Amino acid sequence: MARTKIYVPRETAAVSVGADEVALAIARIAKKTAADVELIRNGSWGASWLEPLVEVDVDGTRIAYGNVAADDVESMFVADLLKGGEHARRLGPTTEIPYLINQDRWTFWRCGLINPLSIEDFELHQGFNALSKAFAEGAESVLQAVADSGLRGRGGAGFPTGIKWRTVADAAGDQKYIACNADEGDSGTFSDRMLMEGDPFGLIEAMAIAGFAVGASKGYIYLRSEYPLTHSILSRAIASARDAGWLGEDIKGSGFNFDIDLHLGAGSYVCGEETAMLESLEGKKGIVRYKPPLPALQGLFGKPTVVNNVVSLASVPNIVNLGGDRYSSMGVNRSKGTLAFQLAGNIKRGGLVEKSFGVTLRELIEDWGGGTASGRPVKAVQVGGPLGAYIPAEQLDTPMDYEAFISIGAMIGHGGIVVFDDTADMAQLARFAMEFCAIESCGKCTPCRIGSTRGVEVIDKIIKGENKDENYDLLVDLCDTMEGASLCAMGGMTPFPVRSALKYFAEDFASPNENQT
Ligand SMILES: Cc1cc2nc3c(=O)[nH]c(=O)nc-3n(C[C@H](O)[C@H](O)[C@H](O)COP(=O)(O)O)c2cc1C
Ligand code: SF4
Repeated sequence: MARTKIYVPRETAAVSVGADEVALAIARIAKKTAADVELIRNGSWGASWLEPLVEVDVDGTRIAYGNVAADDVESMFVADLLKGGEHARRLGPTTEIPYLINQDRWTFWRCGLINPLSIEDFELHQGFNALSKAFAEGAESVLQAVADSGLRGRGGAGFPTGIKWRTVADAAGDQKYIACNADEGDSGTFSDRMLMEGDPFGLIEAMAIAGFAVGASKGYIYLRSEYPLTHSILSRAIASARDAGWLGEDIKGSGFNFDIDLHLGAGSYVCGEETAMLESLEGKKGIVRYKPPLPALQGLFGKPTVVNNVVSLASVPNIVNLGGDRYSSMGVNRSKGTLAFQLAGNIKRGGLVEKSFGVTLRELIEDWGGGTASGRPVKAVQVGGPLGAYIPAEQLDTPMDYEAFISIGAMIGHGGIVVFDDTADMAQLARFAMEFCAIESCGKCTPCRIGSTRGVEVIDKIIKGENKDENYDLLVDLCDTMEGASLCAMGGMTPFPVRSALKYFAEDFASPNENQT
């Protein structure tokens, strides 16, 4: 009889709520009861609110048990876990969990499904098919598919990936690079991490495809230093891919050479900005470079470089497999395909939801997220990280569409959605935006370096009620200067959360005296 497969995620969020202890308890009780069990440490399906989510394979159907604690394991075995027996933690078949079935999983489809560190499992699930197809059909066909897909960068700026790849492919250079931005510094975001922990070979394949398409033989992953588990998983996956001949010289007899270096980030938010990241990769301080020259023409070590976010890259293998048109048939307007939305903050069901563009904020927060964790009304939602605007509850019906968000003074960025209930103090949050910028500024330009510090002081004065009108005007003026004169989006976009807080939540800026009258 075949061994029974039991899946317990080895993914940072699941581990933080006890997945390792659950796995140990399963191994211990299986041994004690002589149960023939194969314990697989998978990635997360993204339903973080159900972690640790344990699954048992019963005749090919995976039966899920949610929020399992190590203390539950003994009673789960007594309840015939290996046959998917009834238990208070039992959720039923994983494929029937509503949070998971109503998604459009294009990029994350293998996350949770496979054993992330088994190259055999990866290959059983279409792994390296796209790279092989690229070898067979040639670089031009990959470039065309990526252009046809309408894929835009998922790191924040939403720049068309096809144009970036074409620029690097056409650039002259004896050496070109693929630099994968895995710094993931935005508040409330974790999609890069989940992808790398749940499907590391998927990213490796994607980077090799990018290298093949543009003529780069070397790739770097710039990984957020706060992700030690991801680092260990990626390191092992890169070594396995090398051993299996999917990285290195003359990959699978194609004549194409490509290898990847994993580099730990410097722990600064601005190191996620592409040019600061390149400086940091070169071993220098993570300070933003002037543009031009564009990294696509003079990037890492002065050579043509594709800088792409993890999710942008990981979306490509299926684009190659299934066609760019198929990807662009999903989504709305100029926002094609899917995005991995990340639900965080004050939300009942936090986690990752991969969905086509066009879904509304309200659908994500209410249908998937179940509303606030506190049960109180939503007051504001910050989308796109610490530089994103605070969106008031009245605008929750805005569809997820890059341009629709720009039209309300907001941005989608990396798809992080942080929810606040009606107890949030928006003046303090506006102050925090300025303070964050002051702490994280790389210091290269004055509007950001000095402006953010002055911004904190001016907001403090407004809150205290000191010369309120003058200080209000001064703050607006300061925001104009930061927006118009900063070298990068750090200083240029910090005004977004500040202005939105002033515009939609003016009452929170009233001094205590004003509030009494
Ligand atoms: C302050 C700042 C921080 C950023 N942090 C990240 C990051 O952590 N990850 C990321 O992919 N992009 C980040 N970006 C965006 C990058 O500069 C760049 O646009 C992106 O890596 C390009 O890849 P894409 O086209 O695939 O999105 C940041 C930008 C700024 C201004
Ligand atoms: S805006 Fe801020 S982070 Fe960007 S270059 Fe200027 S000082 Fe550095």
